Amino acid sequence: MKVTVVGAGNVGASCAEYIAQKSIASEVVLLDIKEGFAEGKALDLTQTATTLGFNTKINGVTNDYTATAGSQVVVITSGIPRKPGMTREELIGINAGIVKSVSDNILAHSPNAIIVVVSNPMDTMTYLALKSTGLPNNRVIGMGGALDSSRFKTYLSKALNCPPNDVQGMVIGGHGDTTMIPLTRLASYNGSPVSQFLSQETLEKVAADTMVGGATLTKLLGTSAWYAPGASVAYLVDSILNDQKRMIPCSVMLDGAYGESDICIGVPVLVGRNGVEAIIDVKLNDEEKDKFKASANAVRSMNAALDQILNN
Ligand code: NAI
Ligand code: 2OP
Repeated sequence: MKVTVVGAGNVGASCAEYIAQKSIASEVVLLDIKEGFAEGKALDLTQTATTLGFNTKINGVTNDYTATAGSQVVVITSGIPRKPGMTREELIGINAGIVKSVSDNILAHSPNAIIVVVSNPMDTMTYLALKSTGLPNNRVIGMGGALDSSRFKTYLSKALNCPPNDVQGMVIGGHGDTTMIPLTRLASYNGSPVSQFLSQETLEKVAADTMVGGATLTKLLGTSAWYAPGASVAYLVDSILNDQKRMIPCSVMLDGAYGESDICIGVPVLVGRNGVEAIIDVKLNDEEKDKFKASANAVRSMNAALDQILNN
């Protein structure tokens, strides 16, 4: 099974590393526009194979899409983060151009691939990839909720003083500091609601920390995070390639689900060989529904910046 990761930067390389280490695919192609960069990352990663005990082939290429032919899954991490003085629209303009041309190049060589979009603003880039390629809704998936949920569970486990894997929980909505919705009411400590163990004040703090989880790391690292994003992408790719049908919050096109249409935004999805196998209708209460509506409105206003790009 073959996976291509476009963008051999922090997130792309980390995602390739986890896919290889866990033997999720038999081959990973890393592609970047920076001359020799993907080749270098691939060579370095390959030299961990005997120490770590994996046999996944890792191939790095500079903008050579012929090497990506026949990929079952393609992950798009190419793009730039926002720089000081840059407007959102300028960032969208640059990343949109990259995501659009990368999607076209990918499909020319892997017409049946499932596309996983990571580049920010992720919900808008997922919408763009879907609209510009004309692919069916099941084949374009945005990764954000998996990462936000892993941050949520980490903060919950710290508050509960328990191992992270004893905690279950999901974050839905847009992948943004003010748009994501940690579903605190539905989170559990081995099946018991976390509200049995944590005060309302603590739960609110956990939700707030989760929402600025990415920004906290950007401040500490000077750039955005990569270990947890890379691992979250690998988790998603594993569910697709190995048809695991895990329930993962992902940004997907809604066609009436959660009361929304013509928008890509994070909702719980069964992820399998066909990409989006089903959207799971988790029963939200009125407060959560209001938050979801506000989140969708915010994502929609970001999407408006795409109109010009899509119509050209
Ligand atoms: P990075 O700057 O380390 O890597 C980006 C790579 O893309 C660079 O190596 C660059 O040369 C390459 N690139 C640019 N244009 C390209 C093109 N046309 N074709 C192929 N490669 C191209 O950035 P990093 O940290 O890896 O982040 C990548 C993107 O992912 C950013 O937009 C970031 O905001 C986003 N991100 C999204 C997350 C999510 O949860 N959805 C989490 C973390 C980052
Ligand atoms: C993150 O959440 C910035 O989307 C990136 O780490």
